[in-house]
Amino acid sequence: MRTVLGIETSCDETAAAIVTEDKHLLANVVLSQQEHKEFGGVVPEIAARAHLVHIDTLVKQALDAANLAFKDLDAVAATAGPGLIGGVMVGAMTAKAIAAVRDIPVIAVNHLEGHALTVRLVEDVAFPYLLLLVSGGHCQLLIVEEVGQYTCLGTTRDDAAGECFDKAAKLLGLGYPGGPAVEKMAAECQDPAKALEKYPFPQPMAGKAGCDFSFSGLKTAVRRAVDDLPQGTVARSDAADISAAFQQTVGLIMTDRTARAIKEYLKLEPAAPALVVAGGVAANKTLRAALEALAKQYNMRFAAPPLKLCTDNAAMIAWAGMERLTRGMTDALDFSVRPRWPLEELKGRTT
Ligand code: KG4
Ligand code: ZN
Repeated sequence: MRTVLGIETSCDETAAAIVTEDKHLLANVVLSQQEHKEFGGVVPEIAARAHLVHIDTLVKQALDAANLAFKDLDAVAATAGPGLIGGVMVGAMTAKAIAAVRDIPVIAVNHLEGHALTVRLVEDVAFPYLLLLVSGGHCQLLIVEEVGQYTCLGTTRDDAAGECFDKAAKLLGLGYPGGPAVEKMAAECQDPAKALEKYPFPQPMAGKAGCDFSFSGLKTAVRRAVDDLPQGTVARSDAADISAAFQQTVGLIMTDRTARAIKEYLKLEPAAPALVVAGGVAANKTLRAALEALAKQYNMRFAAPPLKLCTDNAAMIAWAGMERLTRGMTDALDFSVRPRWPLEELKGRTT
């Protein structure tokens, strides 16, 4: 039974995890860096330094939690991009050092592939599945054909979904990270349907051909709604109404775009059609429910990783590493890191 250590350092979570080939998550430690709070967003230089400070302790904690030593590892996987490059280098270097000393394979994992495959760590979802990948940096609809084989049906033309949540939260004075704060505030809204009537936010791209997204118009509309509030400051009930209307609008945009992607995907006549949602924004329960209902309409299975595996973690990197290891797709110790690394580019990758 093989065991893989995963390391994640591409944004503001420093994380280490250990998975086994038979899908046991033996350890999953995540440190969410608090250093960025006062800046209202992630500061790359501070993130890189914090990863460097914490990564060794986290790897040790993961080994201890799994009751394993370095000698018990069969491979080590680290995020090699896309992400904030200083942090990515810290994780990649750590993985290279462990692999070199233990003489075990190293796997350079694409962070997005980590999100894309996580669901298979917890459920038996067969390829090909349709994936809505919604995170702080990405908003894409993809067909996951196999490990390393992704076809992008649509992507955002401007902001990512998570970015839009973060922006809305900032405008409402809810702090960072915005997604969970907006969701919590929306839950305080007494009448979501009425809130949506009061704030009929635009749904950019909805109804248009293709599967692309756009969120900048929605962001501007939220800003205008806040500016138009009579008191000059945002009262709690206004924040709740705007959060609820905003969240429902994101849900409407996502279901519109995903419905189009489903039609494309079903043309492949998959034996076990499935819609998977992944990435940090997939932790949002209202959005999950909207997408689950959509999948049901098309007689598709709906699957999403548990909440703690939606936001950044190293279990997803360890698992993507395992999927690659079991297919003989390991990397040389001189692999490089990439700030940008679209999933579709994995197709041409030979290792
Ligand atoms: O996947 P992730 O942890 O990091 C990236 O790879 O980007 O995603 C982070 C994003 C942030 O924008 C955060 O606000 C959003 O996911 N997010 C949520 C929720 N939890 C995290 N958005 C909406 N609802 C949530 N519950
Ligand atoms: Zn992520």
